[in-house]
Amino acid sequence: MSGSRPPCLLALETSCDETAASVVTTAGEVLSSEVASQIEIHRAYGGVVPEVASRNHIQVMRLVCEQAMQSAGVALPEITAFAATSGPGLVSSLLIGSTMAKALALAGKKPFLAINHLEGHLLSPFMTKPGEATGDTAAPIPPHLALIVSGGHTMLMNVRGVGQYDLVGRTRDDAAGEAFDKVAKMLGLPYPGGPEIDRRARHGRRDAYEFPRSMMEAGNYEFSFSGLKTAVLYLLPKIDLTDEGTMNDVCASFQEAVIEVLVKKTVNAARQHGQRIIGVSGGVSCNHRLRERFTERCAKAGIELRLTPPTYSTDNAAMIGFAAVHRHLTGYQSPLEIDVDPNLSLVG
Ligand code: KG4
Ligand code: ZN
Repeated sequence: MSGSRPPCLLALETSCDETAASVVTTAGEVLSSEVASQIEIHRAYGGVVPEVASRNHIQVMRLVCEQAMQSAGVALPEITAFAATSGPGLVSSLLIGSTMAKALALAGKKPFLAINHLEGHLLSPFMTKPGEATGDTAAPIPPHLALIVSGGHTMLMNVRGVGQYDLVGRTRDDAAGEAFDKVAKMLGLPYPGGPEIDRRARHGRRDAYEFPRSMMEAGNYEFSFSGLKTAVLYLLPKIDLTDEGTMNDVCASFQEAVIEVLVKKTVNAARQHGQRIIGVSGGVSCNHRLRERFTERCAKAGIELRLTPPTYSTDNAAMIGFAAVHRHLTGYQSPLEIDVDPNLSLVG
């Protein structure tokens, strides 16, 4: 079987609190994607504690790597290159995956590839579906307008090709996922708040409360979610959150305000940049209403929509492996001296 299989890369992701490893072929096919989540550990603190995250990465990293290779049916000597997220993220977490991948590359005399976490998200809407891969090389990434919407970032990028990214707009304050998490905390909902608000919003009225939509003037592609967050804070003393219906209504109305801004600006940006394809990625792209609204709006605008599959929307190593495959195909390789960078940028 291994005779007909294209070469494989092992990719590691430890930018925050997920310890993840994945084996991806140079055709872009994901053979395995293991994610060890620390969510239960950090929930007690209401957020991620960097030192705790780093220590846990050390404890499970080796096991997660072995599991990824085992479920892919690939032995270590068969791996042709090693990749790891090198930023942005928590420096003490990034160091664990990066050091592990460098050590494996050094020991096996194989290439090492430092990958930008945001590039992993950015390219993930184009990840090859099971059985879709043909030949030895992944299909090229088409030009498109990308929305990355996660716990740390909210940005619009004009993508001309792999490594050719122009920033169209980003958030001036909170990322959309951060707004979900902070509002959920205010409402007394468990961490992480995004999935919880999503779940409750399905039973709530989207027009129950009027929340602000910021910076909606034509041609403005920046985002701001702090006004919306404050509006929810001011509403709290006036309502009874012990009432299930009220709680669901606040969730649905808040969620609608975030999503309306994201969808409108992304579709307008695609039109302005002459892009016929939109790619949406990052943890918040799991959101049901966001997926529904993007589907409706893109169909209306005649734009092809590529939504990242929910399993690859939140942090995982398969997206890092997929980005590494595309970088690898361009001949990209990183020196082992390369450092992690908690503020690594995707542009310039
Ligand atoms: O991409 P990700 O796993 O990590 C970062 O790189 O930030 O995104 C995590 C974020 C969290 O803020 C989480 O609340 C949010 O994605 N999220 C959601 C949903 N699932 C995850 N937000 C809204 N609705 C969801 N269903
Ligand atoms: Zn992420």
